[in-house]
Amino acid sequence: MSDRQRFKNKVVIVTGAAQGIGRGIALQVAAEGAHMVMADRSEYVEDVLVEINKTGGDAITVNADLETLAGAQAVVAKAIEHYNRVDILINNVGGAIWMKPFQAFSEEEIIKEVHRSLFPTLWCCRAVLPEMIKNQKGTIVNVSSIATCGIHRVPYSASKGGVNGLTTALAFEHAKDGIRVNAVATGGTEAPPRKVPRNTTALTENEKQWMQDVVDQTIDRTFMGRYGSIQEQVNAILFLASDESSYMTGTIVPVGGGDQG
Ligand SMILES: NC(=O)c1ccc[n+]([C@@H]2O[C@H](COP(=O)([O-])OP(=O)(O)OC[C@H]3O[C@@H](n4cnc5c(N)ncnc54)[C@H](O)[C@@H]3O)[C@@H](O)[C@H]2O)c1
Repeated sequence: MSDRQRFKNKVVIVTGAAQGIGRGIALQVAAEGAHMVMADRSEYVEDVLVEINKTGGDAITVNADLETLAGAQAVVAKAIEHYNRVDILINNVGGAIWMKPFQAFSEEEIIKEVHRSLFPTLWCCRAVLPEMIKNQKGTIVNVSSIATCGIHRVPYSASKGGVNGLTTALAFEHAKDGIRVNAVATGGTEAPPRKVPRNTTALTENEKQWMQDVVDQTIDRTFMGRYGSIQEQVNAILFLASDESSYMTGTIVPVGGGDQG
């Protein structure tokens, strides 16, 4: 348990909680007193549940594919069934699958990128909205990216641009219902090796070089000359999820060491 208890008795859904930034969000939200619903399509989310239970946190898991509306609705339904309401939704699922020049992407790859990095946020917002309108209260935080201005991942960049657009438009449309919607434009983030890889095929020499180009370009565009940590992203995401940001909505906050995205 943490000294800070910003989420005490709040029902919080965190998507993509099995690893990386999502796991970091989930551990801290639980430590700050939430009743938490961790949604992921990987069974590794159960390992995070064990960590949370060990420290006395309260959470459940839902195994769902959030690239579908049905998956998103199942997560919201489970939250309401178990905890009676949803206060906060943190949409973290996403991530570039391939890094290469746009002309090297196939039609199928472009569709997969959009399904990975736009639809889970779109579906989860759609699925939670009736509950938040009913309560006349709710907070949504979307995890976007500074890659809206970055090389070698145009389909991902376009998806995150879509996340930014839906953040602003949804905030405008539902401020009257007491619902706040904000996003963090996450910068390059140091993380341990992924248990759930984004891409299971071995990289070609060209793909390794394109990925290195992305790393170099990401660092070049920061003022601070480095990647951020998971905790630095979690800090900003949880500020937006908490009542500390009560007069903020429709805002995209860049957390990229000076890179505005
Ligand atoms: N890591 C970075 O450097 C970085 C930079 C900018 C933005 N971001 C954004 O931050 C977020 C998290 O990034 P990360 O690197 O921690 O991600 P990650 O790829 O390490 O983990 C993503 C998690 O989401 C789950 N997931 C993926 N698709 C799913 C689906 N359809 N349904 C349910 N669960 C699904 C995976 O199982 C995994 O647990 C993403 O939105 C990403 O675009 C990350």
